[in-house]
Amino acid sequence: MFAIAFAVVLCLMVSVEAKFPEDPKPCKYGDGECIMKLCNTLFSENSAEGDPGLNLMQLDPLKVDRMVISQGESSSPVGITLTFTDNLLYGIKDQRIVKVKGFGRDLTAKHEVKIVTKTFSLVGPYNIQGKVLILPISGTGQSNMTMVNVRAIVSFSGKPLVKNGETYLDVTDLKITMKPESSHYHFSNLFNGDKALGDNMNVFLNENSEAIYKETAKAIDRSFGKLYLGVVKGVFSKLPYAKFFADES
Ligand SMILES: *[C@@H]1O[C@H](CO)[C@@H](O)[C@H](O)[C@H]1NC(C)=O
Repeated sequence: MFAIAFAVVLCLMVSVEAKFPEDPKPCKYGDGECIMKLCNTLFSENSAEGDPGLNLMQLDPLKVDRMVISQGESSSPVGITLTFTDNLLYGIKDQRIVKVKGFGRDLTAKHEVKIVTKTFSLVGPYNIQGKVLILPISGTGQSNMTMVNVRAIVSFSGKPLVKNGETYLDVTDLKITMKPESSHYHFSNLFNGDKALGDNMNVFLNENSEAIYKETAKAIDRSFGKLYLGVVKGVFSKLPYAKFFADES
């Protein structure tokens, strides 16, 4: 799911690291079609086996050191704190950008990227505390949270930052909204390893996954937004904004 902005970011990063490959050619300001094709080409060419030259090895799976999904609105039937540590996110290699807006000369304008992904699986150690409807839930173990056919929109804006006479894009605001067609959960070792309770809870979560996702979507988007802000900021602080485009003069 949060591969999303990462796609763009990574794709920009790759272009930068590789000093803009001759083919595909880099894009002009605001040429969304070109930016989309460039990113998707870099993806499909490089992600299947990884390309050490382009530093794409660790893209899929992607390491997620720590992510907290915290849903505490009292009006919601779901109140949980779900912490993932040292997880791996699978699925980035199959994601595709379907629309790019922004990236014009005015770097303060809104930039937006739409992405579709077949599956995203976040896999690894988890800790959960809280309640789902009237049921208390708690556990520490291994989990797999999977989302299928995810449509995501990443949007961000920023302000100009002048360093050594060159203008950089300082990304100040980034939002992600993700809409999976379906979601699936598996938490091992719930309730201190009580197998009957744990199995029942996993069945319950999956039978109600649509409602549960809805209740936690904002919290999930927030967590991924934070992660992405750091990454996108990093990319645009690497080079002056104009250097990302073909018509830089
Ligand atoms: C995670 O779960 C999905 C199905 O919900 C499965 O397809 C996938 O293989 C699982 N991933 C891992 C690494 O166990």
